[in-house]
Amino acid sequence: MRLKSLLLLVGLVMSGALTLSAKVNKKPAPWERETKMEAFVDSLLQKMTLEEKLGQLTLFSSSWDITGPITNNNYVEDVKKGKVGAIFNAYSADFTYRLQKENMENTRLSIPLLFGYDVIHGHWTTFPIPLAEACSWDLEWIEKSARIAAIEATSEGLHWTFAPMVDIARDPRWGRIAEGAGEDIFLGCEIAKARVHGFQGDDLSKTNTMLACAKHYAAYGVAQAGRDYHTVDISNRELWSTYMPPFKAAVNAGVATFMTSFNELDGTPCTGNEYLLDDVLRKKWHFDGFVVTDYTSIMEMTEHGNVKDEKEAGEVAINAGVDMDMQSGIFNDFLPTSVEEGKVLTSRIDEAVRQILKMKYRLGLFEDPYKYSDVKRAKKTLMKPEFIKASRELAKRSIVLLKNEDQILPLNKNIKKLALIGPYVKNRRDLVGTWSGAGKWEKAVTVMEGVEKAVSRKTEILYAEGCKLFGDDRSGFDNAVATAKEADAVVLMVGEPHDWSGEAASRTDLELPGVQPELVKEIVKTGKPVVMVMMNGRPLTIDWEAANVPAIVEAWHLGVQAGPAVADVLFGDYNPSAKLTVTFPRNVGQIPIYYNMKHTGRPMDPNQKFTSKYLDCPNSPLYPFGYGLSYTTFDYSAVELDKTTMGANDQIIAKVKVSNTGKYDGEEVVQLYIQDLVGSVTRPVKELKGFKKVFIPKGESVEVEFTITAEDLAFYRKDMSYGVEKGDFKVFIGTSSQEVQESQFTLTQTAPIAEK
Ligand code: NOJ
Repeated sequence: MRLKSLLLLVGLVMSGALTLSAKVNKKPAPWERETKMEAFVDSLLQKMTLEEKLGQLTLFSSSWDITGPITNNNYVEDVKKGKVGAIFNAYSADFTYRLQKENMENTRLSIPLLFGYDVIHGHWTTFPIPLAEACSWDLEWIEKSARIAAIEATSEGLHWTFAPMVDIARDPRWGRIAEGAGEDIFLGCEIAKARVHGFQGDDLSKTNTMLACAKHYAAYGVAQAGRDYHTVDISNRELWSTYMPPFKAAVNAGVATFMTSFNELDGTPCTGNEYLLDDVLRKKWHFDGFVVTDYTSIMEMTEHGNVKDEKEAGEVAINAGVDMDMQSGIFNDFLPTSVEEGKVLTSRIDEAVRQILKMKYRLGLFEDPYKYSDVKRAKKTLMKPEFIKASRELAKRSIVLLKNEDQILPLNKNIKKLALIGPYVKNRRDLVGTWSGAGKWEKAVTVMEGVEKAVSRKTEILYAEGCKLFGDDRSGFDNAVATAKEADAVVLMVGEPHDWSGEAASRTDLELPGVQPELVKEIVKTGKPVVMVMMNGRPLTIDWEAANVPAIVEAWHLGVQAGPAVADVLFGDYNPSAKLTVTFPRNVGQIPIYYNMKHTGRPMDPNQKFTSKYLDCPNSPLYPFGYGLSYTTFDYSAVELDKTTMGANDQIIAKVKVSNTGKYDGEEVVQLYIQDLVGSVTRPVKELKGFKKVFIPKGESVEVEFTITAEDLAFYRKDMSYGVEKGDFKVFIGTSSQEVQESQFTLTQTAPIAEK
């Protein structure tokens, strides 16, 4: 018996099933695993037919959460025929186990299926939408949120999330602004890294880590006029300066996969873009994972009009560097002929298959294809109390206080009569926001429930819905006004429905939907102290509200613990510390508007007509990037630099003293911006280059220090080389992109700098 097992083991090792040795030996070192993996994948590739290889390059959706055309109703049959390497929109330990079994037992080579899903901001336990999380400026918590999402999702058999979305987004008309980190490059890179680390952890073979996916490569957020899927047309300089860095940051963080974007770039759809996929991603950045398309985006090239038919679309995509076809089925259908005709080389197909098999290997699927689908683990894991607690923690950290006239917030828990008015008071469904497919919205805690728990037993809570989130029914106004009149203060809960942001959710009008703006006006007219709390997925235009409502809280779509988190802030159990990571325009006509714009040759001068401005609106935004209030106040000292000149290999230490001058302990996001005064090409008015979130007890001060190096001053120069140019720089440190202290230094050398 013993001899038999030994012979079997030797046989398996020799036949290429080398990973099995991992079961008998102690866990191999990472380099050992990688070497074994290469040999294993080579040997497997040699056994595969062209059809089996194309199967590995094919990703099909189950019939669960569909976001586009259904191209394949028969995915289970295709799985059994070995025509599918990966499935998405299918989860739960039980379902993934059964599907994997069909695959393992019916296919010739039994190559495990990969299960992918949009795990965007939590799985069962939803967290705040990514834009909201970004406003916490809290990288540890952002990473933790992705980590928890991975722990839950993997327990349901998932191996791969289509996140993070690292698209910089500066157009709030575009609904997908909700899914990213906002408008800034530096912060976008930091958050991209945190999210990749959160999902992938430190070892992909663990059962609670999953492949991350940097999407949508590239410049998807620049859709003209904010209309989803629309044309993108930007300069190469803008592409490299603004939109590429977060993708590079994701590569640096070891992201396992990339997703192409739907849009075109310089006339070529990104799914067939050899420059992006091969020249940059593989050759320049040395990306060692696989590239998946977005949903049917190979097929969509026929609509873009850069190919004549689906067969040519498949050829263009694979030759450009796409490895996996999401949902078009085109690789399966057409590449055999393309190979026969010599239009696609088998070596290219092998390369793509290799990348995918490697990821399956790294996940440990060849050792045990069922290891993630564990019903017992799922039961113990999903919506664990500690995860729900974490969701509340991050939710309260994501809430931005926009206005607080006469310090009407925080409210007193002993308030006698508090009116909760508006369509979001008892709303449960919309709290979880966009892309919350597996999220248990039924378990979300409403604002009514959160407030009821927070106030004293003597407090009487009055309620009126007032109106719906959209539509033109004003019949609830009278009751809402009467309710407000009875109360000592009003919390007005307004916002957007969850599916008004996210994919295919562009808007041209960014006011609160429906008759909500009218309801706000009616309630303000009562003269009662009103706190307006907004739950939405993008910046809204609230010019009138900002001028007339005494207190405004931007709560976003906060996830399953929205109610308690809002109550934490309203009653001062948590002192708000979040800051906007996206600019709030005064009106849609100002878009695009973001803090790091260029000067222009005619900077705005209110006394000169022929300068860059509007006749009917100021240039300034309603609320700038980096803005957010606290219940306390922070005072900044002047910026101190340890020297005023530096060489390209030097550094400068910039210091400020930040004092908490108010009545509450609080956290402050201290922000560092730099401006290059003269460049070989025009430079932004300022750029974020660092931040620190510090806790300062009331009455105390902390010194905050930043180290400035040449890396912080580098940019794509006139000839597109990356480096620094000697000259003068301004340093700004402050509480937002607009409220800053400044100083200045000189860089004495021009030098090339390695791209980050
Ligand atoms: C289309 C979206 O653009 C993408 O972000 C998502 O991952 C896929 N559909 C899969 O659901």
